[in-house]
Formats: sequence, C-alpha cells, structure tokens
Amino acid sequence: MHFRYALPWLSIQTVLAVSLPFADIDPSTQLNKRSLAYSEPHYPSPWMDPKAIGWEEAYEKAKAFVSQLTLLEKVNLTTGIGWGAEQCVGQTGAIPRLGLKSMCMQDAPLAIRGTDYNSVFPAGVTTAATFDRGLMYKRGYALGQEAKGKGVTVLLGPVAGPLGRAPEGGRNWEGFSTDPVLTGIAMAETIKGTQDAGVVACAKHFIGNEQEHFRQVGESQDYGYNISETLSSNIDDKTMHEMYLWPFVDAIRAGVGSFMCAYTQANNSYSCQNSKLLNNLLKQENGFQGFVMSDWQAHHSGVASAAAGLDMSMPGDTLFNSGRSYWGTNLTLAVLNGTVPQWRIDDMAMRIMAAFFKVGQTVEDQETINFSFWTLDTYGPLHWAARKDYQQINWHVNVQGDHGSLIREIAARGTVLLKNTGSLPLKKPKFLAVIGEDAGPNPLGPNGCADNRCNNGTLGIGWGSGTGNFPYLVTPDQALQARAVQDGSRYESVLRNHAPTEIKALVSQQDATAIVFVNANSGEGFIEIDGNKGDRLNLTLWNEGDALVKNVSSWCNNTIVVLHTPGPVLLTEWHDNPNITAILWAGMPGQESGNSITDVLYGRVNPSGRTPFTWGATRESYGTDVLYEPNNGNEAPQLDYTEGVFIDYRHFDKANASVLYEFGFGLSYTTFEYSNLKIEKHQVGEYTPTTGQTEAAPTFGNFSESVEDYVFPAAEFPYVYQFIYPYLNSTDMSASSGDAQYGQTAEEFLPPKANDGSAQPLLRSSGLHHPGGNPALYDIMYTVTADITNTGKVAGDEVPQLYVSLGGPEDPKVVLRGFDRLRVEPEEKVQFKAVLTRRDVSSWDTVKQDWVITEYAKKVYVGPSSRKLDLEEVLP
Ligand code: BGC
Ligand code: BGC
Repeated sequence: MHFRYALPWLSIQTVLAVSLPFADIDPSTQLNKRSLAYSEPHYPSPWMDPKAIGWEEAYEKAKAFVSQLTLLEKVNLTTGIGWGAEQCVGQTGAIPRLGLKSMCMQDAPLAIRGTDYNSVFPAGVTTAATFDRGLMYKRGYALGQEAKGKGVTVLLGPVAGPLGRAPEGGRNWEGFSTDPVLTGIAMAETIKGTQDAGVVACAKHFIGNEQEHFRQVGESQDYGYNISETLSSNIDDKTMHEMYLWPFVDAIRAGVGSFMCAYTQANNSYSCQNSKLLNNLLKQENGFQGFVMSDWQAHHSGVASAAAGLDMSMPGDTLFNSGRSYWGTNLTLAVLNGTVPQWRIDDMAMRIMAAFFKVGQTVEDQETINFSFWTLDTYGPLHWAARKDYQQINWHVNVQGDHGSLIREIAARGTVLLKNTGSLPLKKPKFLAVIGEDAGPNPLGPNGCADNRCNNGTLGIGWGSGTGNFPYLVTPDQALQARAVQDGSRYESVLRNHAPTEIKALVSQQDATAIVFVNANSGEGFIEIDGNKGDRLNLTLWNEGDALVKNVSSWCNNTIVVLHTPGPVLLTEWHDNPNITAILWAGMPGQESGNSITDVLYGRVNPSGRTPFTWGATRESYGTDVLYEPNNGNEAPQLDYTEGVFIDYRHFDKANASVLYEFGFGLSYTTFEYSNLKIEKHQVGEYTPTTGQTEAAPTFGNFSESVEDYVFPAAEFPYVYQFIYPYLNSTDMSASSGDAQYGQTAEEFLPPKANDGSAQPLLRSSGLHHPGGNPALYDIMYTVTADITNTGKVAGDEVPQLYVSLGGPEDPKVVLRGFDRLRVEPEEKVQFKAVLTRRDVSSWDTVKQDWVITEYAKKVYVGPSSRKLDLEEVLP
C-alpha cells in the first residue's frame, strides 16, 4: 500500500503522516527510498501550556470561551470555509451562538492584498537593509493598523521562509535577509508591531520553502512537470537549528500568534503533517503556544495532520472549490469516533482563541470585514464562489493614515549606496537625464497587472500573493523631475530601454548627469513571467538592462545606476567602469519609490542602508541554486541542503572567494572610524538542561455523543454550495465521511503515542513555561562596546555590526550577531553597544540535542560590513 501522498477523496483515516517509518519503502521508483532523507516521528502533539509566559491572560480568556463550545463549534474554528467562500483569502467558520464572527486570514507581508485605499510598504528585503529595529517595528505596526482597519483577524506575514538559500528563489524579497539573525530580528519587530496593533501575525512558511519550483503538485503539473509529490527540502539537524529555524524561534519569542506550514516537504514528510517540524521543533522544543495553519492547499491528510500538530486547515477545502475537506465533517467524525482525542481538538481551539485574545481582540468588539478579496465592486455575492447572497461587500475604507511618510523613510533608509566616486549627492545638476523603463510608470496603471503579474515600468514590489494594490506609485521620473524643476535644473527622461538613438542624443550632451534605472523581478510560483516560474532563471538584469547600462556609460562619463531587484544581480561586467560614478540598490521600495530614491540621490537622506545579501561575481559563485528540473522520477524532487549552514556570506567566506559587495556593506556621504572595542563578561549561571514533565493533556468542556446532534440543520439555514461545514450528511458516520476505508482504528494506522494524553517529559533544550526554548539560552553573557566617530563633513547614520567567530573547524568564518543604526554628527563620537546571549555563542549539538558552547576559542569583531571587521578581540 502506498500512503505517501493524499488524494482529495481519501479522507481522515486512510492518509498517514509520511513520517511513519514503514510508509516510505517503494522499490519501484528511481531512487532507493531508504536512502532518502527521513523525518523522524514525534508524538504526541504537545498541548498548550496555560502558564506560558506572555500567554497566561490569553489562555484564561480562551479557557472561558472554549469551555462553552460544542464539538461542531470547535471544528468550525479549525477549518476554513473554503476557497472564495466569503470575503477574505481564508476564513474560519463562525460561532454565532456566542457572537464570534468568522475570522479573516488575509495576505500579507507588505500590504493588505486585493483591497483598495491601503498602503504598499517596502518589501521585507528593503526593510532588512535599513538594519533598523525601530523602522521594522513601525512598519509592522502600520501594517497591523491597516489590517485591523479592514477587519482582518490574522495577517499572513511576516516571512522567514524563504530565508534565501538560493539567490534566484522567487519569494526571497517577501522575507528579509539570507542571515538568520537579521531575519530573526526583523521577524520579531514586525510581529510585535503587528500584534500591538491588534492583529494576529503569522510566521511563514515553515520551513524550507526556499524555492517556488515544485512547491505544489498541481502547479508543477500545469507547467508540464510530471511529479506526484512536492519538493522535499532535505535539511540536517544542525543546519535546521543554526540557520532555518533560528528566525522562527525569534518569532515565537516575540509572541507570534500563528505559524503557516509550507507547501514543501521537509525530509520527505509534508510540512503540514510533519511531526518532527510541528510537534517536536515548534511546539515541544520551542514551546510555541499559538496555532499552526496550513498554507493554501498544503493540507494533505485528516487524522494524521491533527496528530502531527496542525491546528487549522486553510482555506479549508482539499483543493480549491472541491467542496471537500480533510477536516470539517471529517474532524467532527474523528473526534466522535475517538480517532482524534478530545484533548487534541481542544488544544487546537485553545491555541486559536488564545492567539485571538493575546493581541487584544474580543468577541464583543470584533472588527467587521469591510472588503472582498475577490473584487473591488461595491456590491456582489457575499458567498463569492457560490455566487450567493448578493449584498454590499466592499466599503472602500481608507486605512492609509499617514503611512506614506513612513514608507518613504524606510525605502530611503533601506537604499544601499554600493559605489560613489563623488557624483553623489547631487547638487542642482545642470542637466539631469533619466533613462530606463524602470524609472517610469506601468502604462497599464500601477495596478494594471493582477497580483503584479507583469514587469512594466518601475519595480515597486515583486509578484504573487505577497503584493497589494497601490494607492499611488510615485515613479522615480516624477519625483526627480519635480526636484529638478524646483532646483532650476534641465530635466529630460527616456522611459524606454530600447531607444539607443534618443538615449545617446541626450546623455552624450555636455553636462549631462545620467541616471539609469534597471531592474530584475521575481515572485510566487503560481505566476510565470517571461519564463520565470516564480524563481528567477538567472541573476542578470531584465529587459536588456546590462546593455542599457553599458551603452549609457559608454556615452556619458557621469552615469549613476539605480537597481530595483529582489536580491543580487550580476554587476560584474560594468561595476568598475570609471564612467559609472555611482551604483545604488533600491530594492523593492513600495509606493513612495521615486521620493525615496530622490531623498538619497540629493542627500536629504544620507544613505545608511546595508546590503542584506552578498553580491557575487557569478551565479555559480553562490554555491547554491534553485532545482529547476525534477530529479527523482515523478516522485518528490529532492533538494539536499548539502551546503549546510554555508549560504551567502558564510559560503563566500569559507571558499575564500572575492565578491563585488559583501553582506553588510553600504556607503555613506560621510566616513566613520571604529575604535576602542571592549568586551564585558557577565556572571551567569551554568546552562541547566530542563527536566520534568508537562501536565497531562487538559480538556475543556464536553461534547454530545449522539450522532443526531451533528447532522446538517437544514431547517435552520440553507446549505451554501462548496462551503465547508463541520456537519454530517446523515447519522451514518461512514457514509458521511466519504472515506472508503472508514472504520480503521487509530491503533491500526497512527504512530505510537499519537493519542497519548499523559504527562510528557520535557526536552532539555526546551523551557518550562518559556516560549523560545531553554531560557538560559537568552542569558546575556557579554556586552560589547565600540566607539564610532564621524570623520567626514556631514551628519550620517552608521550601522556597526557585531560578528562572532565560533572557532570550530565546521563553523563559518564569522556570523552576524548584532547591529545598530546610530546617528553621528560630524566629528562626534558615539558608542555602539550590543550584547551576546548564550545562544549567540552556542552551536547545536546533534548528539546532545541541545545548544552547547564549544571548547574552541571564539572571537568578536566589530566593523561596518562582514568583510571590514575593523576591531577584533578574543572572547574572554
Ligand atoms: C501562499 C501564501 C499565502 C496564501 C494565501 C499561498 O499560495 O504561499 O503565502 O498566504 O497562498 O494567499
Ligand atoms: C491565489 C494565491 C495562492 C495561489 C496558490 C492563487 O490563485 O491567488 O493566493 O497563493 O493561488 O497557488
């Protein structure tokens, strides 16, 4: 029997968690499955801890609420009502008896998607480049306010997966940086901001969602790939802990209310039913107290996923608009017949309601959803997919507040000055010639391409579900022209890449300052642009941008290049051309694009952005890439993370390879000097492994065992086509399940201990009542200080960075552990201060299954980039 993938019509009982040891051996495939990466089983699913720090009050409220619920009502919380069933991209069932409205899940990381009168913020990658915790927080807060203003319960961001293993990865810009520490800090600040604004944040995509190719079976088949299962990201234990899990742990510590499990498999077990990922890493080791929802159509089993730690099925149907669900009716049945114990459904409900209460939402004052994701029309069917209940569905609420100025600031502060031989800042240039499509508008309008599925005009953001409708998009051409007019400069622009005659005629004129705008783009796998199925096909500029740069710089000896890209592009052929006097990476700046770049070019903002990834000379030099072709017959493509922790700068450093611009690099219009490094060691106790046990699994309330109480109450309200309900069709449980193998018992197909609700031993690496692992990991062991002096003529911000060498033969040369952005006046000296926690100087020990400080001598470095480590000192 072949259990490894779930077909929609196989419901609760037949589909196994693929982490079962015996589920995996199939000699008929090309690779011997026994040699494939394997994900160990971890059961039972850890139940919530009402005493968890930061969650106590939320759990009190959740307990009061959940204890009153019927089984049907609990199931309603756990299961989406189906794709397009109502207004949001995902919604749960409501509990009208107690006044709880359907919860709204809505994208996402840089804008409220699919609405109007919302803002479009800079992408994560640009936000990361600010290296500014305050701006990260403010952006999260502003996003949260906008979400709340639209009636959103859960905002489906921020993103730490992808981390950016491959620079070509399509969704890297939705996340922050290839460095887990920078990403972790950005995650935490964003989450705190969003949740302080009263909206639940969602850390996604957990985990190993590092490329778009093969993330979904249907999508891949539509592209002509013959695969029957999704990509497996094969990640070893050390790499998991030290790289990919790290920022998600920061999300947990920041109190994030929800997680989204990924489409992909990890070590050949689907993320949303992977007990190692959900039960062990997330809930047991790191004490996550919120709920895990599936990515959209990433749910592949019934009981198996419940036992493996999934708490919410999104959007609720097996495949969009199938009208069927792995949960809904089937979860009701599974609890009724005992295959899912009551404590597990209670745990799901408690986690969901605790997240809701934790961010300050209340049943009494719950926001009302005032938009429809599916249309901007004012009137339409409430039940969109069923075309039913025509009414007002859009109220066009303006939620932008004054966020435009914040957006302008973040994008300016996140712009990285890569090269400047003296042409910047601009000072009333006599003649400014702006060149390139990327400086101008999309002729179809800023929202002319749904989900941004085109690359026309200036690139504000990438494509896919991580986008939003622009309220306006200030182009570089508009903003630069306005400034030129104000200064009395002559201004002309050519907003085409392919107009050599006209471009040459302009930029070869005496006194011309040419600014060339070029881009590269990427996005989510469900959209293909120019052959790029989400992931970029290459690292070169789009639209013959390289030829444009080369041409302009051959005609004009004062050529400034501005790059709008999701990550690195290859600048190898022209970056050191002396006619190119400046290069700026403006990332994906959002709606204020033109204003932000103008601020930097003219020195209204002295650049202080730092590149959150490395600029290598060739594609190959990165050592990691997207897997573009299936490599396992029609079985799951296997993506082995053989590079381990060595991605981006860790890789380049290990290979001793030269780079064009290293991680953390960025110039300013002033200069800084570093001096006086000091390390203060603090007295902290020994690391104490956690011991002891959890409580036994609690239950909340009780439920009727009579099947009649579960049949669809046709007399009370009409059935909506394709809507996912918790009800049974009839009192015949087997028939209601639609499952040919209904009747198998839990013992027959669930892994050992899956339903064991007795007290469980605590892991040594975990913390009793402490989300984020053993609390001793966060003991502050060192305080590091250094002096930064502004040795130039203008005020500026400096981003001192603290790196550590962990010293072992398998350790990267250096790893980022701290940073700050400091304002320094000319000739002023300020102090940079950062701390090192125990986690910061520890490594994951795969034998002990815990963090340890190795015996190797460790060093601390402080400097302005990962390769300019001006100050160093041995760690005492
Ligand atoms: C994406 C998620 C998104 C969801 C809902 C999925 O395809 O991977 O990031 O939140 O759709 O739009
Ligand atoms: C939706 C996205 C979703 C994707 C999944 C698209 O149709 O708009 O929200 O991420 O499907 O493949």
